[in-house]
Amino acid sequence: MDHVTKVAQPIAHATAVGLDSSRLPRHVAIIMDGNGRWAKSRTWDRTRGHQQGAEVVRSITTESVKLGIARLTLYAFSSENWSRPPAEIDFLMELLDRFLKNELPTLQENDVRLEAIGSLQRLPLNVRKTLDRIINTTAQNKSMVLCLALSYGGRDELTDACRAIAREVQAGRIAPEEITPQTIQSHLYAPHAHDVDVVIRTAGEQRMSNFLPWEATYAEFISVAPLWPDFGIAAYHAALQEFQRRERRFGGV
Ligand code: IPE
Ligand code: IPE
Ligand code: MG
Repeated sequence: MDHVTKVAQPIAHATAVGLDSSRLPRHVAIIMDGNGRWAKSRTWDRTRGHQQGAEVVRSITTESVKLGIARLTLYAFSSENWSRPPAEIDFLMELLDRFLKNELPTLQENDVRLEAIGSLQRLPLNVRKTLDRIINTTAQNKSMVLCLALSYGGRDELTDACRAIAREVQAGRIAPEEITPQTIQSHLYAPHAHDVDVVIRTAGEQRMSNFLPWEATYAEFISVAPLWPDFGIAAYHAALQEFQRRERRFGGV
């Protein structure tokens, strides 16, 4: 089915919420932070923050489709997050598995293709299987790509790329002098993705935490105060309005 008939009028929607539809970011990346603090402030277990955070993933994903954003990358679990207590990791992996299964109808209705980046081989087998199934089922969807960064580390990604390129050099397929930024790009986890235009981080933090070092080299960074479970559509629109107020120069004058 033609995606235009499936998903309603992104230009009109963007304009209605105060955004310039001709200057929307193509690739939005979000560091979803503050789940633990959200729960702690209610004297609840951290896991309840993750649970509430999963609800916000759904609303921000569908809103991104409505706005006409081409790619949304969400930092869901970092390579460093493996150092958390096993009980929290187990909970997050179960939540992820359940979330993926539950979201399939929403992804289909919204014509969203799922992708994943990261050291996926470290994920539990059940999660990998579910992930593969949802990725395959949504492979033909065209309105937006939802890319989940899972067990993702930017240094791991660049290390993996270096290893793959070194193997090609060793095999004599490419000379060291022929390695260009394009060579590195083509060995990333999502080689065809457009550069990140904007990184949004919730919970007021102002660091990258090993997220997309290559892809977000020229991204605008926007830190917002709400904790991820409190991050609503209005706050999302405000962040995108802030992005549209920035002047992107890319080193020019
Ligand atoms: C983000 O929330 C979710 C993950 C990193 C998985 P946190 O769990 O980091 O929450 P805080 O930062 O401790 O509040
Ligand atoms: C970054 O958040 C990772 C994700 C949001 C998945 P963290 O909470 O793990 O980052 P730090 O520890 O504050 O840098
Ligand atoms: Mg955190």
